[in-house]
Amino acid sequence: MSKIMRLDRFIAGQISDISRSAAKQYCRQGRVLVNGKKAAFDQKIDAEIDEISVDGEKVRYKEHIYIMLNKPQGYVCSTRNGNSPTVLELVPKRLYRCGLFPAGRLDKDTEGFVLITDDGELSHKMLSPKSHVDKRYYVELKDDIREDTADIFASGMTIDNNEVCLPAKLERVKDNDKACFLTLHEGKFHQVKRMFSQLGNEVVYLKRVSIGSMELDRDLPLGECLEILHKDIQKLLDKT
Ligand code: URA
Repeated sequence: MSKIMRLDRFIAGQISDISRSAAKQYCRQGRVLVNGKKAAFDQKIDAEIDEISVDGEKVRYKEHIYIMLNKPQGYVCSTRNGNSPTVLELVPKRLYRCGLFPAGRLDKDTEGFVLITDDGELSHKMLSPKSHVDKRYYVELKDDIREDTADIFASGMTIDNNEVCLPAKLERVKDNDKACFLTLHEGKFHQVKRMFSQLGNEVVYLKRVSIGSMELDRDLPLGECLEILHKDIQKLLDKT
């Protein structure tokens, strides 16, 4: 993608609470400098080379943004607003940009780590069936987990008669026979619920706690977002 763009577009794209028309206004007011000189809003700049400042503060160029959301129940992982609110409504103004979407889906009643980004390439890599990026879930069940469950999941079970799952890793939780952690290397529709349902059990609470080798920040409250640093992005694609 070209890094050459109009100054007003650059500013509106990089600073979330400045609209394109506000950016023009800032330029007219002489609040925007390109390499130390006042600049017209329609001046072309190279986002990677030129030094841009607004009100004396340098604007660092970021091509994409990566947001960790701790999704609460009741929100859908979609960009379209149907009957339920979407996860995009939880992105605060300071992180919001055009073109954001959730990379991957959690069910409406599932909590936990959702990546929201405008980077289609990374999302494709993360979600491609071939990439097998790990997703780890904390699961609570209606009934005690059967003794043979870990072995059945590890062997690659078949669900709903013909869908074969990749081997998955179940870790028991100490002193609780109704809870576990489950790591999947793929993301079939309702997969965790369907795997347990196949064994006659029912998921009553589900939370995604990590993607690749990146864990959901334990201090991030439900419904809140934080920006993932560019240096950490690779962790989203790691196999653990
Ligand atoms: N598996 C499910 O059943 N639901 C989710 O939201 C994620 C994984």
